Order: sequence, then structure tokens, then C-alpha cells
Amino acid sequence: MGRRRGVLSVIVALGLAGASGLTANATPFSPGAAGAGDPYFPDMGNGGYDVRHYDINLAFDPKTKAIDATTTVLAKATQNLSRFDLDFQGPLKISKVTVNGRAAAFTRSGAQELVITPRRGLWRGSTFTVAVTYAGVPQRIDDPALGISGWAATKDGAVALNQPIGAATYYPVNDTTADKATYSQTITVPTGLTVLANGEPGPTTTHRGKTTFRWQMSQPMASELSMLAIGNYNVTRSRLKDGRLNITAIGQSVDTKAGQGKVFNETTAQIVEWESSLYGRYPFGSTGGIIGDVGVHYALESQGRPVYDQRSSNVSGGLLAHELGHQWFGDSLTPARWSDIWLNEGFATYSEWLYQEKFRGIPAQQSFEAAYNGEDNWTGKVADPGRDRIFDSLVYDRGAMTLHALRLKIGDRAFFQVLKQWPTAHRHSNVTTQTFIRFVERLTHRDLGPFFQAWVYQPGKPKL
Ligand code: TRP
Ligand code: ZN
Repeated sequence: MGRRRGVLSVIVALGLAGASGLTANATPFSPGAAGAGDPYFPDMGNGGYDVRHYDINLAFDPKTKAIDATTTVLAKATQNLSRFDLDFQGPLKISKVTVNGRAAAFTRSGAQELVITPRRGLWRGSTFTVAVTYAGVPQRIDDPALGISGWAATKDGAVALNQPIGAATYYPVNDTTADKATYSQTITVPTGLTVLANGEPGPTTTHRGKTTFRWQMSQPMASELSMLAIGNYNVTRSRLKDGRLNITAIGQSVDTKAGQGKVFNETTAQIVEWESSLYGRYPFGSTGGIIGDVGVHYALESQGRPVYDQRSSNVSGGLLAHELGHQWFGDSLTPARWSDIWLNEGFATYSEWLYQEKFRGIPAQQSFEAAYNGEDNWTGKVADPGRDRIFDSLVYDRGAMTLHALRLKIGDRAFFQVLKQWPTAHRHSNVTTQTFIRFVERLTHRDLGPFFQAWVYQPGKPKL
């Protein structure tokens, strides 16, 4: 609305200045929005187009820590665009931008806006290609409330872990969970280093002391779940029972016991297969995981291939169950808004409780009671925790408590139907708390309004 009024007043002002002003401004093209509308992260994402595919082509030099890259974005216009933004931030220098192969004007503004003006307007519904060439030493983000994200150099290489705001530190991106796309990553490093990324590997080629690795993610992926790891890794490859590749890697600097690589690989497979029996068919083309000295002190659910910091409590089965549970809850089903992140963390934490129940003889009821009688998670709202509390135990533990309380209310039979049918019905899409509540109400034929009011929309300790 505000934008339309702005355009109108420009036309009126120019109309006063002369009759030709109106004709000149009767262009059907207008700028895409600079944000995607998330109240927690107003600069993130953009409007006016929908990305289909990212092709990240990047060379990394461990001596200088610099990258040299061209990222090509294939997108479809959702309005007639005179110009549009991509998110891109930090000190990297852009040398060239093209749209559909022709040089385009660009400027950078605000915290993370790369503003691109193609020579001609882009018609709504048309697909277009943007290629951005850039170089420099990427700088990771260290947010006081949200921790570290983005590209970070390590002792032996680099990692890029992008949740929630890191992707734009090394590639131009529509950095919103609401715009998933497929990815290909072509990464060149000095021969001897290994590169791991999301999805399935393509051919590796070596030329004049440099090796190029190729990785392809063929299912839709939110940018926050994209990942890269470059370094000295011991890689283990196997296949799940259904034939999918299971690629795990452990950093050579990690203090590993003999056989740990095999144990990590086998435990990953075992948990993916067990979770598939609970949550429905595994959503991606391959699985795996990476353990390394990645500098973040936590684990992350990057799509298809989670990353575990070596210090995250020696990477227990419960942690694997959490990050692999995210493959359904968070990665395949992704909240459109960050305020709904309990739909990720509540289910991932509940995956840990189910793991304890199944493999350690600790009933989920016991985990629930410990949480219910333990830490104070009663001061905020689960389904709107606030920007600085998206990784709070309010979201994780009270989110899992909400699911267990739901289990007690609707019974095991209906509850385990929800666990399987919810991710099946909304595979590879965006979800909201409202959609979830309606889904459960339809499946159980019950009014669960007051239940969810108490558990996710209101602060305070719900009665049992
Ligand atoms: N979302 C991650 C997980 O639950 C963890 C995570 C990402 C995190 N960023 C964080 C935890 C910042 C604490 C602080 O698997
Ligand atoms: Zn999690």
C-alpha cells in the first residue's frame, strides 16, 4: 500500500511539471521490496521474485583466507520489476553483475542490500538469471543473542554454517526461509583438502594443484540450511538400506578413537532409518554428517548433512537424533517466519526424548516431568519468543513439552499419526503454527484451541 501511494505521488508531481512526465512514468515496472517481511529480521529476504536455483562457484585460498566467486541465481519475477535486491553483506568486493547475460547496474545499501537494476524491466512470470562475481575475505557474523553464523576460516580451511543470518556473508541470496531453491556448489581448493556440502557429490577434478569438488542439492532448500566445510577430513561412505548415500566426515584434528568414523556413520544410518519409520520417508537424496572443529560450540541441522562441533558434548546419539529429526522438522517443513521456530526445535528436542525412550530405556514421560518441574520456561511465548530468544530453552524444551502434553491429550495412536502425517502432508514446503493446529484438529476431530492457547500462545505454566 505505502509503495503504491509513493508511486502515485511521484506521477502527480511530475504531471504538474509537464505533460510528458506522466507518460515517462507510466512504466509498468516497480522496485522489488528490500525485505521479505519477517518482523524479527526485516532486512532479510527480498520481494518481487522467487529463486529457483543457486549455482555457487567458488575458489578458496587457505593462505590468504580469501574467496573468489561467481554465484548465479535463477529466479522468476513475481511482479514487473524495475530493480530488485539480493542480500549480500560484509567486505567482499563485487566486480561484476549481469542479468540475463548483460551487465547490470548495482549499488549496495543498508546492512545487506545489493540493489540490482537490469537494463530492461523484468516482466512478471518471466525467469531471469543474475550472475554476481566477487572476491575477498568473508567475515562471519557474531550476533550477541544468536551466536556465530556465516563463513568462518578454520585452522585447516573454512566452514560456512548459515543459521539464521549467515548465508549472505559469502553469496548473494534471497535470505528468507520462505524462498527455497535447489543448489549446486562447485568449490575449488588446493589439492589435498576435502570439501563437503549439502546433497550429493558430483565428479571431482584436479588441475594444476587445485581440486574442484561438486555438490548438488536437488530438493528445495532454505538458505539458512546451506552449508560448506573445507579442510582435512576422513570421509566414510556407505548406503542406507534404501540405497541412499550416507556420507559422514570427521575432521582430522578432532581427537578421535579408533573406529569412531565407522560408529558415527553407522549411528547416523540407524537413526535416519528409525526416524523414517516414525516420521515417514526420509525427505532428501542422501544423508550423513560432519564432526569438526567448526568453532560454533553447537550442532546444526544443515540440510541432508548436519554439522556437529567436536565440543558439542561428544556427539551423543541424542544429539544425532535431534539434528537428523530436523531433516523432517525444519528442513523439509520450514517455518515461513522465525517466530514459529518451535515447529523445528520442539520436534527435534522431542526426537531426543523419543531416542531416550527407544534406545536408553528412559520414557518420554520422564523427560517431560524433568522439564516441567525444572527450568523456568514460563516467561515467554513459544510461538513468538522474540528475535533474541529463537534458540532459547523456551523454544526447545517447552516446545517438546507441548508435544508431549499433546500426546497425553490425544493418545499415542493419534499422536504418532500426527508425527508421521504432518511431515508427509507438508513435505518440502513452508509451515506455520496455525497450519499445524488446524492439521491436528482435523486429524483428531477435536477443538484444541484452548490447549494450544495455553501451551504456545501464552506465557505461564500450563496446568496438566
Ligand atoms: N538450531 C540448532 C539446533 O538446534 C542450534 C543453533 C543454531 C543454536 N544457532 C544457535 C543454538 C545459536 C544456540 C545458539 O540444532
Ligand atoms: Zn535444533
